[in-house]
Amino acid sequence: MSSARDMNSLGKARDVETRIGSLLEVMSIEEKVGQLNQVQCTGPNVVEDLAHGIRSGRIGSVINVVDPDAINAMQHIAIHESRHGIPLLIGRDVIHGFKTVAPLPLGQAASWNPGLVRECARVSAQEATAYGINWTFAPMIDIARDPRWGRVAESLGEDPFLASALGAAMVVGFQESANGEADTLIACAKHFAGYGASEAGRDYNTTNLPLNEMRNVYLPPFKAAREAGVATFMTSFSDIDGIPATASDFLLDEVLRQEWGFDGAVVSDWDAIHQLCVHGLCENDVEATYLAARAGVDIDMISGVYERHIPELVATERLPMERLDTLVGNVLRVKIQAGLMDRDVTVLPEEPARMSGLALVREAAAQSLVLLRNENAVLPLDATRLDRLAVIGPLADEPAEQLGTWVFDGDPARSVTPLAALHAMLEGEVEIDHVRALETTRSRDRSQFDAAFAAAQSADMAIFFIGEEAILSGEAHSRADITLPGVQADLVRHVRGAGKPVIGVILAGRPLAMGDIADQFDALIYAWHPGSMGGPAIADTLFGRCVPSGKLPVSFPTMSGQVPIYYAHKQTGRPATPETVIHIDDIPSGAEQTSLGMTTFHLDAGYLPLYPFGFGLSYTTFDYADLSIDRHHVPLGGRVVVEASITNTGDRAGTEIVQLYVRDRFGSLTRPVRELKGFERIHLEPGQSHRVRFELHTDELAFYGRDGAFAAEPGDFDVWVAPSSVGGLHTHFAITA
Ligand code: BGC
Repeated sequence: MSSARDMNSLGKARDVETRIGSLLEVMSIEEKVGQLNQVQCTGPNVVEDLAHGIRSGRIGSVINVVDPDAINAMQHIAIHESRHGIPLLIGRDVIHGFKTVAPLPLGQAASWNPGLVRECARVSAQEATAYGINWTFAPMIDIARDPRWGRVAESLGEDPFLASALGAAMVVGFQESANGEADTLIACAKHFAGYGASEAGRDYNTTNLPLNEMRNVYLPPFKAAREAGVATFMTSFSDIDGIPATASDFLLDEVLRQEWGFDGAVVSDWDAIHQLCVHGLCENDVEATYLAARAGVDIDMISGVYERHIPELVATERLPMERLDTLVGNVLRVKIQAGLMDRDVTVLPEEPARMSGLALVREAAAQSLVLLRNENAVLPLDATRLDRLAVIGPLADEPAEQLGTWVFDGDPARSVTPLAALHAMLEGEVEIDHVRALETTRSRDRSQFDAAFAAAQSADMAIFFIGEEAILSGEAHSRADITLPGVQADLVRHVRGAGKPVIGVILAGRPLAMGDIADQFDALIYAWHPGSMGGPAIADTLFGRCVPSGKLPVSFPTMSGQVPIYYAHKQTGRPATPETVIHIDDIPSGAEQTSLGMTTFHLDAGYLPLYPFGFGLSYTTFDYADLSIDRHHVPLGGRVVVEASITNTGDRAGTEIVQLYVRDRFGSLTRPVRELKGFERIHLEPGQSHRVRFELHTDELAFYGRDGAFAAEPGDFDVWVAPSSVGGLHTHFAITA
């Protein structure tokens, strides 16, 4: 019997498909099904418990084992003791760092910096592969327009264009290699597709996504990941039009395989094949197995139903052997293409030097910070003018909380907290009075309020570190009321009474609704969960060693009831304008029951977000001028070039993220009021100007229209070069047939 190792020795040049075919010829049904079977093992004796299954070829993949010795021992059995010597996929959720933790994906997205995002993924890959892990379940590129949904933290925000650019960068960062593939971490585009649209932002809930929305908003980041070479996809827990994604022939076959030509592997989400029964799509696991295998799920994540039922489905010829071979071939292709079968996977790459990872995530944290408010230029602070600072709040000194959700392996010992960083920076110069004030962000005990007040009173100013602990966002951690939890807002109001400037640094996994509290801060920095080096990045920014450049990757609601609220909404037949909005407090008593504006707004919240998508301040100012467009009529298939001059008009160097938006004014289907189509980060010294140039091909204006075809439609377009999704320099053009 030839083993994969022997075949490998025939040389890498041997065609992948031939290698797959040769293996399929000699594998038993049980061994084939083994390749589709991903198991978890939580006991203390992982290797012992899994040894028989691996040796007999009944396990192709293992999830959540992170002990390098155990991984090595399992790979050793797979390679040297199983009949075909096929190595295992070792999966782990390495979402925004392994040991060294970068900001949450949502925080990384605020950098609008694909290069940086790619480097963060690279460091994760280097650290995780040094433990023998070869597959991560990231990036999560679900469009997230409802911040009640806890998984918004893991997302790259609300916009398909930005999420596509950053998701693709993550894929490349994970999968590229500096080390003969040994440090390649196979990426997984998840959750395919539509999961972010869970109703009411409640995790795992039903989704109602019209095909137009699915195609034009939710699928583009997945297509971008596919084009970036992602090797695997994960199905979504949710359903589309009554069919759970894990059984969706439309998503898994028609879109993914036929339209996009994907030839990697699709893994179910956790137990999701069995859950087809729970959804009520079928009555039992045999049927669930059949439906998932038919639709194109290659790997069963831990439900065990493939192992139990595929053999009988093949024996009764309900599932043709060719179908099974296709699924197995997809898994083998991933293993071959990732180089797992061509090198000794038991020889691990070296972990990168700690410091390189820490310096990078510090830079990432700095670029993720978004300055939302800065009244009277209270920031940056000048240490020479300060004697004493009151540092208040439950998140000033929490090494684990600042790492955020999905950190199973991250090492809080590598975290530097804001309090520690401020101490280190201001030692001997400024005194720091730290009052935690609340045990957690959820506490309701006000007994320390006066101590916080007194600290602020005897200091030059108060800096709050408040928001949400890591546990309040992420999977299965949705909230209905997304204001600051507990009595934090009251604490801020109380301390404000001391009459000193108040600075807020918000650490949170989601945009919080802060309409009732934002104006209590003289300055407000949104720090997300900034990761291992969040503290120094925040301290550097407070004191002007870093100039904030982040821009929001999601709209910030004024109040919870406004969500979902996102910039790329439709115009509707009754768009709101400032003139039409009436506030509930201004309704005269005895008013008629009708005629309150008659446009699309809330009586208590209007229609605007508190902070729009793309927004973020700097310590300097940027002027946008001299917009030009090279033509006002563009034939289909042609290009238009839009340019504008951006000048740093302040007295500090800074980075501006210049954004390009369009509006397709009339379509065969109604189109969003704005869509991001480009962005550029530019660094400008004081007084310096730069002419940004955006080139748009009419293909980039294509969408799935009324006839279901993907095409750009002739007609009028608005175009803006803007500092956010609001305002900017405007011109127009038309696509001609
Ligand atoms: C999550 C996935 C994750 C998987 C494995 C599931 O519950 O939805 O995103 O990759 O678990 O941990």
